[in-house]
Amino acid sequence: MIEQLQSLSATALAEIVSIHDDAALEEFRLRYLGKKGSVTALSAGMRDVPPDQRAAVGAKFNEVRTAITAALDEKKAALVAAADAKVAEGVDVTLPGRPLPRGGIHPMTQVLDRAVRILRRMGFALATGPEVETEWHCFDALNTPADHPARNESDTFYFDSGLLLRTHTSSVQIRTMQNQAPPVRIIAPGSAFRRDEIDATHLSAFNQLEGLYVAERVSLADLKGTLEHLLRALFGPNVEMRFRPHFFPFTEPSYEVDVKLAPKGQAPRWVEILGCGMVDPAVFRAICDSRKDDVYHPDKVTGFAFGMGLERLAMIQWGIGDIRHLIENDVRFLEQFV
Ligand code: DAH
Repeated sequence: MIEQLQSLSATALAEIVSIHDDAALEEFRLRYLGKKGSVTALSAGMRDVPPDQRAAVGAKFNEVRTAITAALDEKKAALVAAADAKVAEGVDVTLPGRPLPRGGIHPMTQVLDRAVRILRRMGFALATGPEVETEWHCFDALNTPADHPARNESDTFYFDSGLLLRTHTSSVQIRTMQNQAPPVRIIAPGSAFRRDEIDATHLSAFNQLEGLYVAERVSLADLKGTLEHLLRALFGPNVEMRFRPHFFPFTEPSYEVDVKLAPKGQAPRWVEILGCGMVDPAVFRAICDSRKDDVYHPDKVTGFAFGMGLERLAMIQWGIGDIRHLIENDVRFLEQFV
């Protein structure tokens, strides 16, 4: 038996030398070590080996199996190495690699991050509210009467339930004051929706950033100082700005703020950048009614609010001529902002 094993092993190890592909190697493996392989076949003869020789024969079996397995592994590795070498043939590994395209932050995210960072440094905390809103949060509580044009079916997306897609982020002012006693100092970036015809300056879904500061004795000077700081941080320390009287139902007095900017190669002109004002006492009264307390009584607190369009801000910052670029995700456009 031991001689048989010895010669089987010698044959196998001689044979494997001349194998050069995976299929032949597998055939070899099955022929020697498979269920019907010769080593397995020989092991059936163990039955007839006298007990005093069993240990020696068993050891020989292991030795032969180990030797053939090792030769198989070695051959397998050699075949892989040979295949790899073939692939690399003719490749100049000293050539520079192909550049991988690098991702970048979307310009809208960049604008948002920047504005949020500036305002957080001034003590404004982030707040959020739902995009699907009640008419009360979006309009009534913001002193916007039922006959206001913004509430028209042709301006606002209503659901059959009477809920709507918020037309501005100002509804977050209301939700925040309902849930939090003064002082509050929050910013609420988020989407807003209007039934606007989509063109170079309008989208039906866009982004705003709302700000609200309510406490004892908050003044118009606080509003002006805060927004001046914000705009200088956004557009440079020497940017010219003006507060132009305007009307919003939820603030009194109200302003639109313009900054003087020179689009590339053009004369400087005033560009509207945000709306703002002192929170209207009617808004505080709606909050008091809803909270059933008087911590927001207009005799106790005052506040200011502001809201700006973030797409608009991005367009101004980079001189983007068409708002639709910001939602099309065309890499040729986006890669300019990396
Ligand atoms: N909600 C206004 C809009 O969508 C923007 C705005 C104006 C927000 C004045 C304010 C504000 O908080 O005080 O056009």
